[in-house]
Amino acid sequence: MPIILVVATDNKGNIGKDGKLPWGAPIRADMKRFREITMRGSDSSESFPFLVMGRATWESIGSKPLKGRYNVVLSRDKAFTANNEALVLNDVKDVLLIAHSASDGLGALVYVIGGAEVYQQFLPYAEQIYLTQVDGEFEGDAKFPPHDTTKWAPYLEDEILAGPLTPYNLKFIRLERIAPTIPK
Ligand SMILES: NC(=O)c1ccc[n+]([C@@H]2O[C@H](COP(=O)([O-])OP(=O)(O)OC[C@H]3O[C@@H](n4cnc5c(N)ncnc54)[C@H](OP(=O)(O)O)[C@@H]3O)[C@@H](O)[C@H]2O)c1
Repeated sequence: MPIILVVATDNKGNIGKDGKLPWGAPIRADMKRFREITMRGSDSSESFPFLVMGRATWESIGSKPLKGRYNVVLSRDKAFTANNEALVLNDVKDVLLIAHSASDGLGALVYVIGGAEVYQQFLPYAEQIYLTQVDGEFEGDAKFPPHDTTKWAPYLEDEILAGPLTPYNLKFIRLERIAPTIPK
């Protein structure tokens, strides 16, 4: 099954600042979309979703798993346990194995949910990117990796204007890979 990246960036590609989001508190409308996307498959044991995140992102969400999905935390520290609340893997290859074995019948959907270091490593394998574009420019120390726009077709799925659900205008964009991924 495909590897899917789910990310929110500002207009400059910033995704994080000091271990938090560049724009401050999580945006309700984006959290709703994130949940809708990443819960897909959770009603089926055949395509139960995996959320893959870096150790820094795990800490940024309070070191607690997001419910209804398998939470996987990447760390190079072999002693790191995520308090036994998530599966800890030490290598990107182990995640690719999960996604690859799915096509052999085990049925995992792999959503990579950040941060910058982890997006960078999975971008070459990703088939889809769900991007929330937050219309603003903020300070950041973590960016989404630049992607070759000739290899990705963007589809604008929705737009939400600033209001009760979001302090900034949002664009919900789905990017579909139009050039092949590198082999897993
Ligand atoms: N806007 C968004 O959509 C979004 C989404 C997620 C996160 N964020 C933000 O992004 C920032 C965090 O991003 P980040 O780049 O600093 O950190 P990160 O990617 O979340 O985590 C980095 C850590 O992951 C582990 N890791 C990375 N590659 C690995 C590999 N190949 N094998 C094993 N472990 C590996 C390492 O953990 P160890 O150090 O333990 O070895 C590394 O220090 C925060 O500000 C967060 O709020 C934003």
